[in-house]
Amino acid sequence: MTRKTVLVTGGAGYIGSHCCVDLLEAGYHVIAVDNFANSIENDGIATSLQRVERITGKSVTFEKCDLLDRENVINIFKQYQVDCVIHTAALKVIGDSLQMSLKYYNNNLIGTINLLEAMESTNCFDLVYSSSCTVYGDPDFVPITEGRNVYGRTKYFIEEMLNDLSKSDPKWKIISLRYFNPKTSVALGKKPHVTVYGKDYNTPDGTGVRDYIHIMDLASGHVAALRKFERAENLGFQAYNLGLGRGISVLELVREFEKATGIRVPVVYAEKRPGDAGAVICCPKKALSELDWAPKYDLPKMCEDLWRWQTMNPDGYKTK
Ligand SMILES: NC(=O)c1ccc[n+]([C@@H]2O[C@H](COP(=O)([O-])OP(=O)(O)OC[C@H]3O[C@@H](n4cnc5c(N)ncnc54)[C@H](O)[C@@H]3O)[C@@H](O)[C@H]2O)c1
Repeated sequence: MTRKTVLVTGGAGYIGSHCCVDLLEAGYHVIAVDNFANSIENDGIATSLQRVERITGKSVTFEKCDLLDRENVINIFKQYQVDCVIHTAALKVIGDSLQMSLKYYNNNLIGTINLLEAMESTNCFDLVYSSSCTVYGDPDFVPITEGRNVYGRTKYFIEEMLNDLSKSDPKWKIISLRYFNPKTSVALGKKPHVTVYGKDYNTPDGTGVRDYIHIMDLASGHVAALRKFERAENLGFQAYNLGLGRGISVLELVREFEKATGIRVPVVYAEKRPGDAGAVICCPKKALSELDWAPKYDLPKMCEDLWRWQTMNPDGYKTK
């Protein structure tokens, strides 16, 4: 079988670079595209991708490109014969999205439109999209579908657009993966205390409840999505939740982290942040049954790995 080529937008980012590891290990040829809006460049290549190459012993083709640069995006698709795309590139900070709404709409929506046009013009129709549990909005009870923030709305609008696109031409196969918190707070164990935003949510201990997932489980979900493309005709647009299906409060998370590391984490409370929901819990049933995927790692393992990463990389990717 010929080796398939996967283009990963935002390939230098947190989730994109982890996907690159799994893709290389699964035998795909990987082209990573990034503009370094939120990743670190070293001699023209991303520091994260240099590590990906070291870990896997395989090489990633890297193209520095802003998805807003339509012509450049089309040229990349013309240059490489891309079979599938994993689209992780986006601006993603909820607070910033409330203050810089135009920048967020421009980057996330226009960047996606440029990407889709480049795909269509080069007959590439298989797309995995990085969506988010924020598309569900702020639930008074779980689940509910109203009340998103600007960042969540960019995700929601893009999903709507992808759904419409898939109906306009049956060649499109689009999988939207709605992630549920692939990152535990990097502040855990690093700063003198952890700031907990809000203690009067309608949750068992008053702090925000989230459903966490290990980054490697998330990455394997993308490879599972690509395999689904190979099995499914007329897939159209499909959305899948990726999470453990278990709600964990911020205080529970802090306790788990203390257990995993033996380090005490003092907690300081602050006001709720605008746009943050009280409880967001995943129902992963559809992904479990249709993607042939299951998460392997639990919360203690997430805490251990987070702590190992922080200890070994005190300055993040800037650490030598
Ligand atoms: N990390 C999370 O908790 C989380 C949760 C749900 C959904 N998501 C989504 O997953 C995706 C990846 O998130 P992440 O945590 O890896 O973020 P990240 O910031 O680490 O990675 C995103 C990458 O995209 C790049 N990028 C942004 N705009 C670009 C553009 N116009 N052109 C080219 N590159 C661009 C950035 O430089 C960055 O390297 C995003 O779409 C995000 O919305 C993330």
